[in-house]
Amino acid sequence: MDKQVMVRVFFRTVKIATALIAVIGTVLWFQAQGGRTAKVRDMQQAATSGVNTGGMKLGGDFEMLDHTGAAVTQADYAGKYLLIYFGYSYCPDVCPSELQRMIAALDLAGDAAEQIQPIFVTVDPERDTPAQLAEYVPMFHPRLVGLTGSAEQVARMADAWKVYYARSKAEDSTNYLMDHSSYIYLMAPDGAPLKMFRAQSKPADMAKAIEDIVDSSAG
Ligand code: NI
Repeated sequence: MDKQVMVRVFFRTVKIATALIAVIGTVLWFQAQGGRTAKVRDMQQAATSGVNTGGMKLGGDFEMLDHTGAAVTQADYAGKYLLIYFGYSYCPDVCPSELQRMIAALDLAGDAAEQIQPIFVTVDPERDTPAQLAEYVPMFHPRLVGLTGSAEQVARMADAWKVYYARSKAEDSTNYLMDHSSYIYLMAPDGAPLKMFRAQSKPADMAKAIEDIVDSSAG
């Protein structure tokens, strides 16, 4: 090999080595990032497994219509824990997935589930008539109760649970979305708030919290 060829080979080797180091470095960096993201996600999930509501003024008596059209109050669910979610049946994604989570948690909660009444409260009484809810709630669970009422009744109940809701993105008077806060509330049989679960809480975490609370108060 003459000197020129040797120099060329040397530089090509350096170039390949540099490229390899860059690739390996990038892969390692992404792996480290992935690990960090997973750690952050775990921390966030731990934080979403439930917020203690001790001392918080939340909930209260309500007068609503259930999905069979019957007038109901808190007293109709006496002796039961209530697991409540506010939303609306026309919701394209958030409500159905939160209701699925809530029901999945209930299914995982074993015997404790029998002491719990799951309730879906609409924030869109205009479209969510009892008949509409009667079609909607059984898709999630045979025991899921749908509550609606007049605009005033719904506003009063949402207010008591500090639920925010408002119409948004109206394409026309019947085709619109609702903005609304998204929590699942666990209420004691005496009406006291026990726990609120943030959106996207894991069903297993919710089930564990539910079992802990219901079992400890039963025994
Ligand atoms: Ni929704």
